[in-house]
Amino acid sequence: MNEKMKQYAARMEDYLAQCFLYEEPQKKLFEAMRYSLLAGGKRIRPVLAQAFCELCGGKADDALCFAAGVEMVHTYSLIHDDLPCMDNDDFRRGKPTSHRVYGEATAILAGDGLLTAAFGQLAKAELPAERIVEAVKTLSHCAGELGMVGGQILDMAAEERLCTEQEVLNIQSRKTGALIEAACKLGVIAAGGTCAQMLAAQTYARCLGLAFQIRDDVLDVIGDAEKLGKATGMDENKNTFVRLYGIEACQSLIAQKTEEAVAALKTFEDASFLCELAESLSMRFH
Ligand code: IPE
Ligand code: IPE
Ligand code: MG
Ligand code: MG
Ligand code: MG
Repeated sequence: MNEKMKQYAARMEDYLAQCFLYEEPQKKLFEAMRYSLLAGGKRIRPVLAQAFCELCGGKADDALCFAAGVEMVHTYSLIHDDLPCMDNDDFRRGKPTSHRVYGEATAILAGDGLLTAAFGQLAKAELPAERIVEAVKTLSHCAGELGMVGGQILDMAAEERLCTEQEVLNIQSRKTGALIEAACKLGVIAAGGTCAQMLAAQTYARCLGLAFQIRDDVLDVIGDAEKLGKATGMDENKNTFVRLYGIEACQSLIAQKTEEAVAALKTFEDASFLCELAESLSMRFH
C-alpha cells in the first residue's frame, strides 16, 4: 500500500511542480499559489482520484488533470480557512500560513487563483468531452455553495452555540466530505466507470470523509503540532466531534465508518489499496 501511495503522490507532486511557473509582473501571486500548493500536503484527494480511476479500469495518468484540479480547490480552501477572519491560523503544512508570509490580500488572491485554475485543469484533460463536463459539474457542486463553501459558512455560524449531532454531521459532510467525494467521483468519471461503480465510490467517500474529519478533530486534541504541520488546540470553542462524543467514542466511530467504507468496495475484484488506505487514515497522526 505504501509503495503505491508514494507513486500516486509523487506523480501528483511532479505535475503540480510544473504549474504557475510564469515570468510575469504578477509573479508574487504565482509565488504565493506555489507556496501553498507545494508545501507538502498528504495529497489524499489526488491519490483517491487516481486509485478510483485504476479501480474502474482506467490508467492513473488519465485522472491526473482531475486530481490536480481537486488538489488546487483543496489548497485554496486551506488558505482561506486559515485567514484571520476565519480560523486565524499561523501554520499550515509545516510552514507559516499564506497570509503570514504574503499578507491577507495576496493570500485571498492566491486562493482565488487556485480555485479558478482548478477548472482549467479539468478542461485540459485528454478525455472525451462528456467526461470533462461531468467532472466540472461534480467538482463545482462539491466545492461550491452546497458543498465545501456551504459547510464552511455553517461551521462559522455554529461557533456561537452548541450544535446537535445532526447539525455537526451536516457541517462535516459539506466542509470536508464534499471534496473527498469529488476526488473519488472524478476518478470514476476519468475511467468512464459505471453507475454501480459511482454509487460504490460515493458510499466509500462519505464514510471515509466522515472518519477523516473525526480524526482531524481528535488530532486537534491529542495530536502533535510538529507532525501535523498545523497548530493543535485550535478548535476548543468549535462544534467538533470531540465535543459531541468525547475522544473514545470518536475513535470507535472512526473504526465503524472505516469498516463501512471498506464494505462499500466489496463488489470490486481487488480494491485492497483503497481498503488499506482507509484503514491507515483512521489511525493517522498527520
Ligand atoms: C485538512 O485536510 C483539512 C480538512 C479537511 C480536515 P488534509 O488533512 O487532507 O490536509 P493536507 O492536504 O494533508 O495538508
Ligand atoms: C477545514 O476544516 C475544512 C476546509 C474546508 C479547509 P478545519 O478548519 O477543521 O481544518 P484544519 O484543522 O484547519 O485543517
Ligand atoms: Mg475551519
Ligand atoms: Mg481550520
Ligand atoms: Mg481541524
